[in-house]
Amino acid sequence: MSGGDTQGRVFYRNLRKVYPVAARGEGIYIYDTEGKAYIDGSGGAAVASIGHGVKEIASAMAAQLDLLAFCHGSQFTSRAAVDLAEKLLAMSPPGMNRVYFLSGGSEAVETAVKMARQYQSDRGKPTKYKVISRWTSFHGNTLGALALGGHTGRRRYYLPLIPHTPHIVPAYCYRCPYGRTPETCRLECADALEEAILYEGPDSVSAFLAEPVVGATAGCLVPKDGYFQRIREICDRYDCLLIADEVMTGIGRTGRNFALDHWGVRPDMIVCAKGLGAGYYPINAVVTTEEIHRVIKEGNGIFVHGHTYSQNPLGCAAALAVLAYIERHDLVRRSAEMGAYLLEGLRRLEEIPIVGDVRGLGLFAGVEFVVDKEKKTPFDPSLKVNTVIANKAFAKGLIVYPGGGGADGIRGDHVLIAPPFTIEEGQIDTLVEILGEAVLETERDLRR
Ligand SMILES: Cc1ncc(COP(=O)(O)O)c(C=O)c1O
Repeated sequence: MSGGDTQGRVFYRNLRKVYPVAARGEGIYIYDTEGKAYIDGSGGAAVASIGHGVKEIASAMAAQLDLLAFCHGSQFTSRAAVDLAEKLLAMSPPGMNRVYFLSGGSEAVETAVKMARQYQSDRGKPTKYKVISRWTSFHGNTLGALALGGHTGRRRYYLPLIPHTPHIVPAYCYRCPYGRTPETCRLECADALEEAILYEGPDSVSAFLAEPVVGATAGCLVPKDGYFQRIREICDRYDCLLIADEVMTGIGRTGRNFALDHWGVRPDMIVCAKGLGAGYYPINAVVTTEEIHRVIKEGNGIFVHGHTYSQNPLGCAAALAVLAYIERHDLVRRSAEMGAYLLEGLRRLEEIPIVGDVRGLGLFAGVEFVVDKEKKTPFDPSLKVNTVIANKAFAKGLIVYPGGGGADGIRGDHVLIAPPFTIEEGQIDTLVEILGEAVLETERDLRR
């Protein structure tokens, strides 16, 4: 099926593109209406963690629908919400004790930021309101989340509409802002938080927000060991909350329940999203501590916030079934194991001259492309190298998630790979092979 007749009157993201029509999904594959199969090598955008078409999730949702599809969070709680909070907290680091449910990642990020602010105010520190975040990060596309993100390409149209908030450098080892190597690294990028807090004034800073492993804006930036431990120390020193945006990395994506578990760091809030509903329902959550809950309960008594679909029973039932499925099939361990296999496979692509860096943690990996390996020169963004590679892969039946702007906000090309945890070794081999072909063909075209 091709041509405008299949597109209807939907307002799409890319208004000039003709999209294939998705018909069904099974395991790691999405099939279009012409019967073509696509390996969902990025789980959409790190969403489809348990694969497509898992019947028991549909059954759990149908059972909840039979009972009750919706009740408003200001009027009721539900068994599904209560049970899901228990299950999610059992996966969370010790000390996390309360869960606020939402339906979108940006919404959840802004909820965490508002919760941090109300907490500071309710505990008698009303001057603490600023949130420090990082360049080369993504926290969502609503205006508040966009302000906190650090991706120039996504922000520049909307700059007049978004508040100015402080940003520090990212932990981008391939392009270390301090010119360090792993051997000479002194974690200056973590110390940058302390500098920013001092410049802003510790009495004004409410929280620091970061993705433990950066996803969409730079293609899987894994920080050096010790980075988040140092960040935690700095946050504690200046009475600043640490908010981990685990929208992509949470619920097993990096081979641990949460990415910060790799470094034994406990944040004050975890924003978790995509893998929670795994694509079956848009459910997200802010996981937080008893202390934050207690202060707001004893302070205002009401968290001055809320969304229509917070805690809705259908979403909670879907996520409960997803978490049960992950547990029953030991999929977090599988994400770690298959992730190691994927990274080994992707490293073979390093032989290709335009492949500058291959990185990953669990089933969350990135490949960065450069003109010149030695100088790490990014491509001219008008060439849209990341999109060209992703489109070639797509035509061959592999979905990867392209991104640009990692190097300086505008330049820099990468693709993100985040397949379902159920992917098998042979399927990973095919994924790597197709991606390799797409990169090689792009390189040849660029040389012409
Ligand atoms: C780290 C991170 N935070 C927040 C978001 C925003 O989530 P949503 O698109 O559901 O609003 C995303 C989406 O990709 C993300 O990757």
